[in-house]
Amino acid sequence: MDLSVEGKAYINGTFENCCIGIDDGKIVAVKKILKADEHFDFGNKIILPAGIDLHVHFRDPGMTHKEDFSTGSLAAVFGGISCVFDMPNTVPQTTTPGSLSDKINDCKRKSFVDFGVYAGVTNDNIKDIEKLAKKCNGFKIFLGNTTVALMFDKTNLRNVLKSISTIGKPVLFHAEDEECLIKNRSVENGLADHLRSRPAGCEELSIREIFNASQDLGSRIHVCHVSSCEGLELLKNRPSNISCGVTPHHCLLSIEKNLGTPSFYKVNPPVRTSFDKEALFNALKNGLVDILESDHAPHTRDEKAVDFDSVPCGLPGVETMYPLFLYLVKKEILSFQRLISLLCIRPAELMGIPKGRLEVGYDADFVVIDFKDVGKIRSDNLHSKCGWTPFEDWSAVFPSCIFVRGEKLIEDHEIQVNQGFGQFVGA
Ligand code: NCD
Ligand code: ZN
Ligand code: ZN
Repeated sequence: MDLSVEGKAYINGTFENCCIGIDDGKIVAVKKILKADEHFDFGNKIILPAGIDLHVHFRDPGMTHKEDFSTGSLAAVFGGISCVFDMPNTVPQTTTPGSLSDKINDCKRKSFVDFGVYAGVTNDNIKDIEKLAKKCNGFKIFLGNTTVALMFDKTNLRNVLKSISTIGKPVLFHAEDEECLIKNRSVENGLADHLRSRPAGCEELSIREIFNASQDLGSRIHVCHVSSCEGLELLKNRPSNISCGVTPHHCLLSIEKNLGTPSFYKVNPPVRTSFDKEALFNALKNGLVDILESDHAPHTRDEKAVDFDSVPCGLPGVETMYPLFLYLVKKEILSFQRLISLLCIRPAELMGIPKGRLEVGYDADFVVIDFKDVGKIRSDNLHSKCGWTPFEDWSAVFPSCIFVRGEKLIEDHEIQVNQGFGQFVGA
C-alpha cells in the first residue's frame, strides 16, 4: 500500500478514529490500523471528503484577465474542492466538439484539481448533441440572458430534452425566463432595481417550463442556483429525475442587509430578500436542495466598480464555499451529514464520478480540518485572479490540507504539485 492517513474520519455518516489506506490514488482500505510505505498521522484532526463544485466559470479561454484555469483551480485547492465542472460561456463558447476538445486539452495542462466540462446548447448546435455528448460531462442551457449567455429559444426545449434523454447525461439550467426578464427590464441604479428587473416570477415560470418540457422523458435535469421561495415551492414537488442547487450567496446574503458597494453584489439570479434567503437555507438543512454550488463567476475589481447598470453580473466563490459552511457546521447551524451530502456525495452522484465518499473504491480526495482554526476570509489570502470576495471578513474554517487522488496538495500554505496535476474526469 502506497499511503495510509490516520485521523478522525467521516465514514458512512459518523466519525471514526481510523486509517485510510491508499493505492494508486484510490481508497483501498479503511481500518483501525494500517501499514503502508508512507504514513500521515493527523491525530484528532477531522478528515472529510473533499468538495465537488458543479458550477464554476473559470473564464478560460477568452476572458483570462478575470480568471484562468490555473488560478481558478488553485482557488479550488485552497477551498477544499478536488473537482470542478466548468461552464460553457467562455470566448469562444464551448458549443462545438472542437472547442470542447481544445478546452479539455488546455485545462489538462493548467488545472490543479480534477475537472469536467459542460457543452452549451444553443439554437444552432442542437443537431450536434450526440457528438458533443462524447466530449462533455453534461449540457448547459441558459433560458435567460446573463454574462456572455448562450442564446436559446425555449420553443426548442422539448426537442432538445428528448434527444439528450437517450444519451443520459445531465442538463443544467439557468432558469430565468427570457421573455419575462425583457418585460421587467429597466435601468438599474442599485440592487433593489436589479431585483425588480429579475423578479422571482421569472424563475418560477422558467422552472415550470422545464417541468412541462421534460414530462415523461426521464432526462436528468439540474436547476442551477435556485434563488427564490417561489422557485423552491415548485421544486418541492419535482420528479426524481430533477435536482437543484443553491449558491452560498443566495442562502447567506439578502438585499436588506448593508452589503457594501452594491455593484459588487450584482449577480444573476439576484440576491433577494431575507425571506428568500432563509427559505433557501432551510431547504439546505431539510434536504429539499440537492447540492451547494458556488457559481464562481469572477469579474475583476475594476470591472465591478463601474456604474451599476453596466456592471457585469457574477460573484467569485469557489474558495470560500466549503470554509464558510464548515464554520456554520462548527456553530451547529448545519449538520455534518447535510454538508457532506450537499458538497460531496450528491454532486459526485449527479456527475457519476467515484468521489465524494471515504469508502473503498473511491478516489482518495479528502480535506483535513482543525476546528480550532477559525479564520477570517480576506481577499488578500485568496487565489482567484479577480482579487475580491463578497464574504470579506466572514468567519470560516479553511482546510489545512487537501489530498487529491492520494496526493498531498498543500503543505505550509504552499501548493505542492504543478499545474496539470488535475485530470479530466472523462466524458
Ligand atoms: C455568471 C457569469 O458571470 O458567467 N453570472 C452570474 O451572474 N451568475 C453566469 C450565470 O451563471 O448566470
Ligand atoms: Zn446562471
Ligand atoms: Zn453560473
